[in-house]
Amino acid sequence: MDRIRIHGQRRLAGEIPVSGAKNAALKLMAASLLTEEPLTLSNMPRLADVRAMGELLRSFGVGVTVSLGGGLGEGDQMRLAACNIQSAFASYDMVRKMRASFQVLAPLLARHGEAKVSLPGGCAIGARPVDLHLKALKALGAQVELADGYVLANAKGGLTGATIEFPFVSVGATETALMAATLAKGETVIENAAREPEIEDLARCLMAMGARIAGLGTSRLVVEGVKQLYGADYAVMHDRIEAGTYAIAAAIAGGEVELIGAKRQSNGALIDLLEKAGARVSDSNRGIAVHMNGARPRAVDCSTAPYPGFPTDLQAQFMALMCVADGSSVIKETIFENRFMHVPELARLGADIKVTGDVAVVRGVEKLRGAPVMATDLRASVSLVLAGLEAEGETIVNRVYHLDRGFDRLEQKLSQAGADIARIGE
Ligand code: EPZ
Repeated sequence: MDRIRIHGQRRLAGEIPVSGAKNAALKLMAASLLTEEPLTLSNMPRLADVRAMGELLRSFGVGVTVSLGGGLGEGDQMRLAACNIQSAFASYDMVRKMRASFQVLAPLLARHGEAKVSLPGGCAIGARPVDLHLKALKALGAQVELADGYVLANAKGGLTGATIEFPFVSVGATETALMAATLAKGETVIENAAREPEIEDLARCLMAMGARIAGLGTSRLVVEGVKQLYGADYAVMHDRIEAGTYAIAAAIAGGEVELIGAKRQSNGALIDLLEKAGARVSDSNRGIAVHMNGARPRAVDCSTAPYPGFPTDLQAQFMALMCVADGSSVIKETIFENRFMHVPELARLGADIKVTGDVAVVRGVEKLRGAPVMATDLRASVSLVLAGLEAEGETIVNRVYHLDRGFDRLEQKLSQAGADIARIGE
């Protein structure tokens, strides 16, 4: 299995192109099931999860064709043609490996009238139930049963619009409700909807396909169901988590990096903390630029929250930065109950972190020292790469497949900006 080798202590300089957003792309791919006409997605990131979703859609009978983009900054293009849905079954094996597979449930149900999709089960970062997804589908009139670890959903007579009020914010459940409501009879109101930019991206794509949705970017989405949706061409939004990760890379390694395609607005909470930590973030005409003059970052506290708060998907990376900060910081994880698995691995690199429940207290050290490390999820893995950029000596990050799931050609992008990083075989 491949590994990533990093020799730390190199300043970064230059530009890093930001790819299309994984967590938007996967849902847009699922949305292709809502129409018999082709959906063509551009700015697609080249990721293992995107390939896995493509395989799942193929198993339903969807025609999936990909044309690869040129350089690092040019996304791939994917054409998805769900003319006939021949199967509406997503196996345990598939959903277990990639939770986002569960997002096919709503579009399959809305268009095909029935679906059998495995329950995802827990995962490395928490229990992650899907009760809110199922409640939303039931509110729209679906019959939902659980049997042998599977969700059996039926709406042969079609779904009917309703008011869905979420007790707390869920990205996935909001997307389930949104996709299901597009083809329901009448009006659906989604209260306490998640406001993550990826949801707005999904809504915009659905609107390009003919859906009628109001309230984009707010916590109240109103969907007027239509009889059918149509094909469309749509460009996936930039990946704010990837952009945020490279912004932290510039802050931890020092230097000056322009993140092509990044948007200040979708990374507001992170930029605020980076500036407090001593980085300078400026707008460029192609994205944003992050400068760190070589001084140690200042310690800043951080608490994760739904958008527009600080994203849980950047918590591990921000913690890596705080490991070398001048002073102590308190990092609180409020979204997932078990998202500190990077802590013992960061400790292997010399970090001083104490975890009590959902709070980590990080006492900054002057330097990290390279070591072999591994992590159990995508964002935790990339936090180790960031720590390796700062560490003295050699860091080897094992289990690279986590990184390949969600970071498009990470080592190429970082080495283009001056990092000493390479992928090595076993
Ligand atoms: C999405 O997961 C992202 N995944 C996650 O990114 C991200 O961390 C998360 O949103 C929060 O921003 C994808 O988009 C594929 P939630 P999702 O539903 O939709 C609880 C990454 O690294 N909950 O907003 O699953 C849940 O357990 C991944 O790219 C219920 O209790 O997140 C969690 O505590 C990791 N019942 C909270 O809500 C439900 O029915 C928020 O989860 C649904 C969720």
